Order: sequence, then C-alpha cells, then structure tokens
Amino acid sequence: EAAEKGGFASFMDKEIHDQPKAVADTLLGRTDLKGRLALDDLRIDEAVLRSIDKIIVVACGTAAYSGHVAKYAIEHWCRIPVEVELAHEFRYRDPVVNEKTLVVAVTQSGETMDTLMAVRHAREQGAKVISIVNTHGSTIPRESDAVLYTHAGPEIAVASTKAFLAQITAAYLLGLYLAQLRGNKFPDEIDEILDELRAMPAKIQEVLDRGARVREIARWMADTSSVLFLGRHVGFPVALEGALKLKELAYIHAEGFAAGELKHGPIALIEPGQPVFVIVPSPRGRDSLHAKVISNIQEIRARGARTLVIAEDGDEAVVPYADEVFWVPQAPTLLAPLLTVVPLQLFACELSTARGLDVDQPRNLAKSVTVE
Ligand code: G6P
Repeated sequence: EAAEKGGFASFMDKEIHDQPKAVADTLLGRTDLKGRLALDDLRIDEAVLRSIDKIIVVACGTAAYSGHVAKYAIEHWCRIPVEVELAHEFRYRDPVVNEKTLVVAVTQSGETMDTLMAVRHAREQGAKVISIVNTHGSTIPRESDAVLYTHAGPEIAVASTKAFLAQITAAYLLGLYLAQLRGNKFPDEIDEILDELRAMPAKIQEVLDRGARVREIARWMADTSSVLFLGRHVGFPVALEGALKLKELAYIHAEGFAAGELKHGPIALIEPGQPVFVIVPSPRGRDSLHAKVISNIQEIRARGARTLVIAEDGDEAVVPYADEVFWVPQAPTLLAPLLTVVPLQLFACELSTARGLDVDQPRNLAKSVTVE
C-alpha cells in the first residue's frame, strides 16, 4: 500500500498531487488533426445536439459542484440555459424534461444509485443523456446515450479531489464542443480557450508547489470549530466544495455561501476570530465582480472575521483586508476553479491529519453510494 501511495502519507495527498496529470490526461486526444475539438467517444447524433434547448446537470456530492462550474461556462459559451440539480431531487420532483433536453450526469464511480435513477428517469421522458464518468465499464455510461470519460485514473480516497478537477475539465470540453457544433463561437475563439486549458496543468502544479503555507495554517487551526467559505460566480461552487471537503475530512462545521448573499443572512454568523475563506475572482475579469468581493471581505473583516483569501498573483487590492493570502497563478475567470479549489483541498487534508483522523476513509462515508 505504501508503494501505491507513491511516497505520500495518504491516498488523498497523492490524489491531490495527481491533479495536474488528471487534467492533462482528460484534455489529451480531444482535438483532431486540424486542431479542432473532436470528442470521438461521444456517440450522439449531432443534429440532436444542435436542437436541444436546455441542459440539466444531475450529480451528487462533489460531482454536483463540478456541474455548478459547468453551468457558468456552458451558458456563457453556448447560450443554452443550464440547470444543475442534485440527482435525488431531480428524480422525485416531476422535472420538465423532453426530447429537447440534454441531461448531463456527472459521476466519478459511475455507480451512484441516485444519479443512475435520475439518468433512467430522464431517458424515460425522452431526454438524451451524456455522462461524464471516471470509471470505465461502470453502469451509468452503459445506460447513457453517450459518455465523455474523465482520465483521472483510479481515485481511492473516499472524498473526491482529482476526479473533481477532471470533471470540470470534461465539462469545459463539452461546452466548447457544443459551442463549436452550434456555431456560438468561431474556431479560433475555441482554440484560444483550449490553449488556456492546456496551460492549466502547469498552473495547478504551481499551486501545489506553493502549498506549504496553507498546510501550516491548517495545522495551526486544528482546533477550530467552524470555518466559512465565500465565493461569487464560479468561486461560489468552489466555496461549497471547500466547505464539503472540510466536513468530510475533518468533521468540522463548515458552510459555503455566495458572497452576495452575505448581507441576506450569513453575516450574522460573523464574530471576532471566525475564520472565513474568500475566493476572489480575477481583477482582470469583467462585471466588477472583483470589486464586489473585495467589499465583502471588508464587511466581514470589520466584524472581526479572520480572512483567508485566495487571490490571483498580482492582485494587491486584497492585501490590506487579508489576514492571509494564498496566491494562485493568473487564469481566465471561468477556468480559475481548477486552481482556487486546490488550496482548500490541501487545507482540509492537512487539518484532518493534524486532528489525527483517517483522511482516506472518513467516518460514515462510502466512496460510491449504491443505494438510494
Ligand atoms: C460519495 C462520495 C463523494 C462523491 C459522491 C458522488 O458521497 O463520498 O466523494 O462526490 O459520492 O459520487 P460519484 O461517484 O457519483 O461521483
């Protein structure tokens, strides 16, 4: 087993460090000889994909948060409405699904029963189903109309890390493929985004190389009883995933919020010393998102929060309001989750270890939940 961990203390630690490769391998071989995006394991009629008018992503747990990231990217690139729903909620609420609906099921194991039931229900209503799956030969791809495999390799630790980054990567590819097919983007625009995507594995490696500081902070915080996570836009699902990792691995009360929602309730939770991670969008992005998140940090800092800020290299505007900054390399806003989630994974993993817990096999959890 020590050999399988490749010199790391846990599978989780190893899998977090496998992420540059998981993303690179998921991108590999997805373009044809002309450099055009070609998803040849996607066996679905192109006319059908041109005619769909809605996408619903169904998934559970971490996979569902990759779906939230997918929503921002696919809507922006393809101008198709995208809903994201927990598979078990989708299945039992009589959703509006028909031949013009594309359901995207995201799952590491391919065996999650809630997700499988959602896939079956969607197909019974006439929807087409594409699954994004890591495990070859599993049930969900067999029952889907098409599959886009993630190439993260086997994920052993119960809580998902590298599969999450691979799922986000596959969802970007699906979005670009649809944009190309439906003529929403020119080929050179797609090429540009693909080039940015191909640059991500090296940037993820950079975040890992800078991981010592977040680990150190995690060890200092081993006795903390509550951590909050704030993000906006694609930073919102990253905040949700950061909180989920901490719950799963360290059994600490953790909650993720949309930063804009702060004033509508969560700010009441802020008291002196409350640690809050804030995922800051790129200052180079549009829509004044960055300024809005900076003002959210000011609001919680003024009430005594201890601010742990994840920001892009060069974003000096965060420094005056941050108790700690974890810097990540610059990247386009929509692709940034591949970087900003990594310090949060390292934090949860290290904090769990500092508390003497089994980071690979947290209590009460199963790698694949094959009952409803
Ligand atoms: C379980 C695991 C989670 C995972 C979820 C969905 O709850 O503990 O880490 O995110 O199932 O699993 P799937 O295999 O469908 O991605």
